[in-house]
Parts: sequence; C-alpha cells; structure tokens
Amino acid sequence: MSIQKVVVVGAGTMGAGIAQLCAQQGLQATITDISQELSDKARSRIEAGLTGRVEKGKISESEKNDILSRITAAGDLSPAADAQIVIESVIENLDIKKSVFAKLDELAPAETLLATNTTSLSISAMAEATRRPDKVVQMHFFNPPVIMKLVEIMPGRKTSPATLEIAASFARQLGKDPVICKNEAPAGIVSRILGQLLNEATWLVDGGIADPEDVDKAMKLGANHPMGPLQLIDMIGLDIHRAKMQTLKKELNDPRYAHPRLIDEMIDKGQLGRKTGKGFYDYGD
Ligand SMILES: NC(=O)c1ccc[n+]([C@@H]2O[C@H](COP(=O)([O-])OP(=O)(O)OC[C@H]3O[C@@H](n4cnc5c(N)ncnc54)[C@H](O)[C@@H]3O)[C@@H](O)[C@H]2O)c1
Repeated sequence: MSIQKVVVVGAGTMGAGIAQLCAQQGLQATITDISQELSDKARSRIEAGLTGRVEKGKISESEKNDILSRITAAGDLSPAADAQIVIESVIENLDIKKSVFAKLDELAPAETLLATNTTSLSISAMAEATRRPDKVVQMHFFNPPVIMKLVEIMPGRKTSPATLEIAASFARQLGKDPVICKNEAPAGIVSRILGQLLNEATWLVDGGIADPEDVDKAMKLGANHPMGPLQLIDMIGLDIHRAKMQTLKKELNDPRYAHPRLIDEMIDKGQLGRKTGKGFYDYGD
C-alpha cells in the first residue's frame, strides 16, 4: 500500500519536520495545529529552511517550489477526512493526545491509520480513545526528521500485525530504516537508553567528578559519539528529559529512572538548555 496523503497534527519542531519529510518524498502533506496561524508559521519555517538550501546550492528553486506545493497548512483537524495516515505530533500531554485521537477517529475514514510520534506516553491509552485501536500505532521520528534515518515503530496492546507492517512500509517509503518493537513500553529503545546516559553524564557533573566539557570530550573521543551527552541534553531541553524520566519511573515503577537533583536545580533557574540560552553550556542570546 503506497501512501500519498498524510495529515500531521501539531506544527511544532517535529510536526513541521515530518510534514517536510513527507513532501520531500513526493507525498501530499497537510500540517495542522490549534490555529491556522501556527500552521502557517510552520510552513513559513519550512520555506525558510528550503530557501537556505537553495542558497547553498543543495536544491534548485523549482525543487523547493515543488516541495512547498505539496504542503498545505490547516487550522483544524478536518483534513483528516481525506488522509490515508495521520501522524499526531502535538505536545507531550496524554489528555491532549487522547482528545486529538478521539476527534481524529470521528473524522478520518475507517481504514485510515492513526500514528503517534509520542516520546514516552502510552500508545494503548491513545488507542482506547478511538474505536479503531487495531489501527493505532507509534511511529517515533527523530530530530530532525528529514535527516535522521530511524523510525521506531511500536504497537499498543491491540495494534494489528497488518498496521505494524503498513507503518514500517510507510517509513521505508519515506526513506527511513525502521525498527519494530515487539511490545509496548514507554520511551521505546533509543529514548530509554539515552535517558540513562544523560542522567549518568549529569551525575558525573553533579558529583564533582568532571566538568561538562570533559564529560562530552570523553564520550566523543572514547565512545565515538558524534556529540557529547551534555550537549545533547541541552539540545533536547532539560525539562523534556526530566518529563521523560518521570514517565519512565512512574510507568515502570522503578527507582533507577530517578533523575539527578542537579536537573531540578537547573530547571528552577530557567537553565533548560539551548532554548533558554543556558544549560550545561552558555549560548548567549
Ligand atoms: N523534539 C524532539 O526532539 C522530539 C523527538 C521525537 C518525538 N518528539 C515528540 O513529538 C511530539 C511533539 O514534539 P515537538 O518537539 O514538536 O513539540 P512542540 O512543542 O515544538 O510542538 C507541539 C505543537 O503541538 C501543538 N498542539 C498542542 N495542542 C494541540 C492540539 N490539541 N491540536 C493540534 N496541535 C496542538 C502546539 O501548538 C505546538 O505547535 C511530542 O509528543 C514529543 O514527545 C519530540
């Protein structure tokens, strides 16, 4: 089954990137958010990024225009009525995601797949907000979606094998190399392993063992990581990391997911990472 029409709900960092990816692969992508203005802004951000690539000689002006012609911005969920797959990528809040899934279930054709890009929330809980839990699946893209090769696919309790197969083949259609988890668990593979790595790196700083620069240098030179864990937590956002670890600790009922006290202290001071100009590193204004 080749997918041609995609709706992406949530025009933030990931939603805009997923819509761009779909359009770059020749699909029609509609991006939607709580207002037309937010979706229009996301489309403008995509346009600005593509213009930068034209200026660098990476793509031609006509390629840019072709990609943009396949991206439509909408202010509500009504385009789901015409979608073969919907990818939900709204903020990481289960109540909001459940309400989006319930509305999508009303609007989308019965055969349409409903995928979530959640990092660590329950796929089954979202699926239970619909009358088609067999067609609800996690498709977890990585940031930035146009570049990162992996899509993690995970079933909820009632996801059918056919849905998993369609999700994997859709990921391949987008030029990705998917992995399929056998069972549902919060945060999948990469986010769960990275969560512990980022905790550990923070504990090294918190315990006065090494400075952030040296922790990062050590992991780059000693483990061949392309970027250090503390550069990474600054990029992800300390608040986002903490929220994920809190979900893991609660859902898996395991104290090994507790996060370092230093993360709370930094968040209290507004040091969330790059987005606030300061985290483990200083980014100026
Ligand atoms: N940022 C990452 O690196 C990353 C990576 C993989 C997965 N994710 C997951 O992707 C999802 C989105 O993350 P993001 O970083 O793009 O967030 P973001 O904050 O950049 O964007 C979220 C968007 O959702 C919109 N939104 C909120 N409520 C909505 C609703 N009811 N209907 C439609 N839109 C609504 C917001 O207006 C906002 O534009 C989250 O579930 C997150 O866990 C994030």
